[in-house]
Amino acid sequence: MKIFLDSGSPDEVEQSLRTGVLDGVTTNPSLIAKEGLKFHDVIKKIGNLLDKYCPSGSDCTVSAEVITVTTDEMVAEGKKLAKLHKKVVVKIPCIPTGLEAVTQLSKLNIRTNVTLVFSAAQAMLAAKAGATYVSPFLGRLNDINADAMAILREMRTIFDNYDFKAEILAASIRSDRDVIESAIVGADIATVPFKIFQQLFNHPLTDKGLKKFLEDWEGYQKTLT
Ligand code: G3P
Repeated sequence: MKIFLDSGSPDEVEQSLRTGVLDGVTTNPSLIAKEGLKFHDVIKKIGNLLDKYCPSGSDCTVSAEVITVTTDEMVAEGKKLAKLHKKVVVKIPCIPTGLEAVTQLSKLNIRTNVTLVFSAAQAMLAAKAGATYVSPFLGRLNDINADAMAILREMRTIFDNYDFKAEILAASIRSDRDVIESAIVGADIATVPFKIFQQLFNHPLTDKGLKKFLEDWEGYQKTLT
């Protein structure tokens, strides 16, 4: 499974890319606003970081979201965003005008990430419109007591039944467990906040085990002197 960072911070992106296990980045207006940096500058900067760290031939991308709601506006904005950097994927909300924009952008070979997806029906329509990524918001589904994993499983089955090319991008991830369950169900990608990305590396038994190994080694060295 590919792992993306859900962040508007170039510093977090660079720190995560250095690990060699990050495959891309997603942003949204809330994340960009939180950083207080200029939207287009952030996207270009992240695109350049992907160029620097992703292996050549890999398909690292950065998703940049439109902040308009009519089809014409979204298509115009999408064209501008796609020109910022070759790794940009245009993020479009899953509303009827949005899917019309996805259809038009896909005819122009501009890649799209359909966001704010909450049902298998929405996911299916987004895939049919030509989305590159379809992003179900798992955490927000769980917030309303829906069974996010069951909905993700429905999407996986439908996409497999019909060989849809769109990749399922599990979003609104709130814990490392969400990442693992998404992987088991078969999401192609999980996009995770920086804090959860860091958590994925850790286990208390690893720290405890390492401490013991180093202490034992130190003790052994002392017996040699
Ligand atoms: O990728 C979408 C994500 O940023 C939304 O997450 O936690 O605000 O529901 P959350």
